[in-house]
Amino acid sequence: MPGAILERHGDVAVITIDNPPVNAMSVGVPSAILARLAEAQLDAAIKAVVVRGGGGGTIAGADIRMFGKPWPADEPTLRDVIAAFETSPKPVVAALRGSCLGGGLELAMSAHYRVAGADASVGQPEVKLGFPPGAGGTQRLPRLAGVDAALPMIVEGNPIGAARALEFGVVDRVVDGDPLAGALAFARERVAAGGPHPRARDKAAKVNDPKIFEATRAAVARRARGLRAPLACIECVAAAVNLPFDDGVKRERAIFEACMASPESAALRHVFFAERAIGKVPGVAKDTTKKTIAKGGVVGSGTMGTGIAMNFANAGIPVKLFDADAVALKRCMATIEKNYAGSVARGSLAKDKADKAFALIQPVSDLATFADVDMVIEAVFEEMPIKLEVFRALDKACKPGAILASNTSYLNIDTIADAVPARHGDVLGTHFFSPANVMRLLEVVRTKSVSAETLMTVLDLGRRMRKVPVVAGACHGFIGNRMLEGYFREAVFLLEEGASPTQVDKAITDFGFPMGPFTVGDLAGLDISWRKRKAGEAGRDKTKRYSPLGDRLCERGRFGQKTGAGYYRYEAGSRAPIPDPEVDDLIVAVAKEQGIARRSIGDEEIVQRCLHPLVNEGARILDDGIALRAGDIDIVWLNGYAFPAWRGGPMHWADTVGLSGIVVTIERFGRDHDFWEPARLLVRLAREGRHFADLDKEDAHA
Ligand code: 3HC
Repeated sequence: MPGAILERHGDVAVITIDNPPVNAMSVGVPSAILARLAEAQLDAAIKAVVVRGGGGGTIAGADIRMFGKPWPADEPTLRDVIAAFETSPKPVVAALRGSCLGGGLELAMSAHYRVAGADASVGQPEVKLGFPPGAGGTQRLPRLAGVDAALPMIVEGNPIGAARALEFGVVDRVVDGDPLAGALAFARERVAAGGPHPRARDKAAKVNDPKIFEATRAAVARRARGLRAPLACIECVAAAVNLPFDDGVKRERAIFEACMASPESAALRHVFFAERAIGKVPGVAKDTTKKTIAKGGVVGSGTMGTGIAMNFANAGIPVKLFDADAVALKRCMATIEKNYAGSVARGSLAKDKADKAFALIQPVSDLATFADVDMVIEAVFEEMPIKLEVFRALDKACKPGAILASNTSYLNIDTIADAVPARHGDVLGTHFFSPANVMRLLEVVRTKSVSAETLMTVLDLGRRMRKVPVVAGACHGFIGNRMLEGYFREAVFLLEEGASPTQVDKAITDFGFPMGPFTVGDLAGLDISWRKRKAGEAGRDKTKRYSPLGDRLCERGRFGQKTGAGYYRYEAGSRAPIPDPEVDDLIVAVAKEQGIARRSIGDEEIVQRCLHPLVNEGARILDDGIALRAGDIDIVWLNGYAFPAWRGGPMHWADTVGLSGIVVTIERFGRDHDFWEPARLLVRLAREGRHFADLDKEDAHA
């Protein structure tokens, strides 16, 4: 039962918030804190109060699970606790340890003083959930830290460490170790010094840079296109400067409530919980023993191998990078060195850290050196016979129990596991996205026989590499790329039917993607999918519609940006896509050849034609058990394909559109086009009036 505990340390009462794991302000916590505070006020022997979080000390703020649900009428709120601290006749000191975030920081700022452990961090991350702080954070933080420091903290939502917080005036003292002793000592000093004790509300919110609001608004417009919450944060902080404190608090609350009710916030809250669910594998205990990965190995020094070796090194794991081709290996090490130098030059990595990471990568030309590695990731050509050969060689070279992973985008990982039958439980797929050292998504592909220990070890390794590891089942394209096929297919069909590359791309960027499909295609290189299409031509279903447009572009040497021409043309040295009449003519010619009458196509149809295939295939992927949850699919699309987070991902977006509407649209398209058959699961959910989110809730409770 969430609550709060009171202990007496001589003349100081210590209130410890007791709501594991992160001491969120759930129902029961505010009332318990108020009751303990009342006890402390009534006790004449108590001269001061210290408040802190229990366990690791983190106070994560309001209970996010309660948003959108009614708060019980008989339970006080966080704001009531804040008012009680602020008006306390006895000084209140917040002792901060771990993360003090959102409502946690708002609570701490209502205390008269704050003492932080050196490991503490403080922040107002609410903007990442689609709303500004709602319990006075935007009014108190600028008063304590000044607007120049507070505004970026509130608008970007990133926490700061204890030393910074001291510099900004957010905390009054930083101590080593557990801050309780420091807070007790501080409380006694302040009692001895006598009142009145300072309140954040009585200070003025100082602005050093008069252009800061304007500059932040402009930066938000550039960076956070389509998002309401960062602008709302700016509005709230401006109120701290322009309005008396109580009016500012009222203004903040009104803006907070409006944002909280927005689809943007619902989507971002969905993402928050989906991100936390991905580490949970039904049927596998969270505390499953994991293997130790102290030494890694990578086979193949191409683009993927290069990035994967850097991932090991960035996680502090020594890694052997194998290639039989000495020239390729040398080139790869030079690329890695250049990549690290680039990070140092951009200021994203300290020189000593870059040097340390680079030193962890050891180029090797003999697989026998892999005898002591705990895990190998193979990143050779995407061709089954080559992969099988590598796995047989690894079987001979590696110690028993070493994890053998194949970095593949499409291949059947079970076939690969079958090549090393004695190691069945140790084999799985790791699908990194390119560039592998930059992109956060990692699909961890299960074989039929992989052990729980291996799976949990690799998920853990993914997190150590600062990736977002999502479990996928074995199938062609796994989760992300399997869904991508329909998206690109329809985008090209739309060109034949009457749209232009610019129109399709604009409709998709207006939806919220940073780039449309044709800009992405030109960036990635059109020749890659061309090669794949040629290889699969024999097996293609010739009864279904096929657009030769992509092939025709490649036949003309238009491979995208790298050749200065693809769906667009590019000036030398520029990445800006320019519409090209040659492509327009080609589209018209291809449409004529296919007997397609071109027509005017609206943006709504473009979005539906491109996105409904994602939802439909996503439903099949769920039904097939390839993804564990609809939320996992959303996380894949957010982190691997830049689906806008404020839309929540394709499955959450489908829930907001309504599944029955999506089924009706798919059936309508199906009357005129191939490939449009609603997925069984989608039809069932629509018929039952349910959502993908309902399935995830059922799983969470299973
Ligand atoms: N409310 C409810 N549950 C929360 C929560 C919160 N504020 N914060 C974390 N949790 C839950 C997580 O969902 C997770 O649950 P699970 O075990 O069932 O999956 C569990 O607590 C542990 O969380 P993490 O896995 O994220 O633990 P970490 O140790 O990695 O991180 C943390 C801890 C840094 C506190 C991180 O959880 C976090 O960033 N939490 C959100 C903080 C936040 O956004 N606070 C603002 C809330 S809104 C607010 O306060 C409004 C106010 O202005 C009025």
